[in-house]
Amino acid sequence: MAILVLGGAGYIGSHTVYELIEAGRDVVVADNLLTGFKEAVHPKARFYQLDIRDRGALDTLFQAENIEGVIHFAASSQVGESMSNPLKYYDNNLYGTMVLLQSMVAHGVDKIVFSSTAATYGEPEQVPILETDRTQPTNCYGETKLSMEHMMNWVSKAHGLRYVALRYFNACGAHASGKIGEAHNPETHLIPLILQVPNGQREKISVFGDDYPTPDGTCIRDYIHVTDLAQAHILALDYLMKGGDNNVFNLGNGVGFSVNEVIEVARAVTGHPIPAEVSPRRAGDPAQLIASSEKAKSVLGWKPQYDDLNTIVSSAWNWHKAHPHGYEK
Ligand code: UFG
Repeated sequence: MAILVLGGAGYIGSHTVYELIEAGRDVVVADNLLTGFKEAVHPKARFYQLDIRDRGALDTLFQAENIEGVIHFAASSQVGESMSNPLKYYDNNLYGTMVLLQSMVAHGVDKIVFSSTAATYGEPEQVPILETDRTQPTNCYGETKLSMEHMMNWVSKAHGLRYVALRYFNACGAHASGKIGEAHNPETHLIPLILQVPNGQREKISVFGDDYPTPDGTCIRDYIHVTDLAQAHILALDYLMKGGDNNVFNLGNGVGFSVNEVIEVARAVTGHPIPAEVSPRRAGDPAQLIASSEKAKSVLGWKPQYDDLNTIVSSAWNWHKAHPHGYEK
């Protein structure tokens, strides 16, 4: 039987496919390639180019393949874009998930692990953030992800589907092989933007605000290596296969780094001075987001391997240096 990875040509999806194949699993990847890259799909995975909003294409896939569980990454994920074009997020993230669940229910596929986000919490009540803390998203991206969690819950009650929602904090880094890594167009994430400076693609990095209530005034985030995220998906799927019930887990290292600290680490890793300039705050950025991942560790047995920011940034630099334009030639 095979695992279906939706969005398996994207950043976190492609890394999860590499880990699944490494673990000897049979993998089917589906992706519409709007933001994913065919080159990121592991050569041993069977690939279907389809959009999850296309019920007919999903039905054909479920008929052709013997799918025992689904890992669902296929979604739009830019916070800024979700504020200017919310209906795109309702369409791709919520409507897409609805069509997917209809097809899964029709074909008796009853296990799903999917990408949720720290953005479901909004401004945190406390740090580190626990899964039981208040969820009050401050952007439409987080809102659609929280609604996806709720949709799964109701479908679970009615049709016996079981799900695990994984709330990621700041995904970063690249695969140890150097074959796959982070590639977004446009790029909005801090670490790849910083590394564009030593790569000669940007003169300086903008620091979005230095007047936050944090020790150095810049925002604090919990950076988690993409391979550690990938491993958590496999553990979550195994948990469901062993009969585990619906659940939600935070995924982070439990350690926060400020924007200035990340830039400092990148300077040390690349040996480049990386000029930085303070610019205005970016709308909707909480001052501090740090996960408590104790639940994922105790229930799933998750053990992040790359908990050191130097190692994380080195793996990202290894990828970006060799692929300054991502997958584009
Ligand atoms: N930042 C800068 N300069 C830049 C880019 C980012 O200072 O050029 C800062 C941001 O203000 C933020 C930090 O760097 O404080 C990290 O920003 P990212 O854009 O890399 O990541 P976010 O924390 O904004 O977003 C991440 C995920 C989202 C998710 C969110 C949860 O990318 O998908 O965490 O809050 F929704």
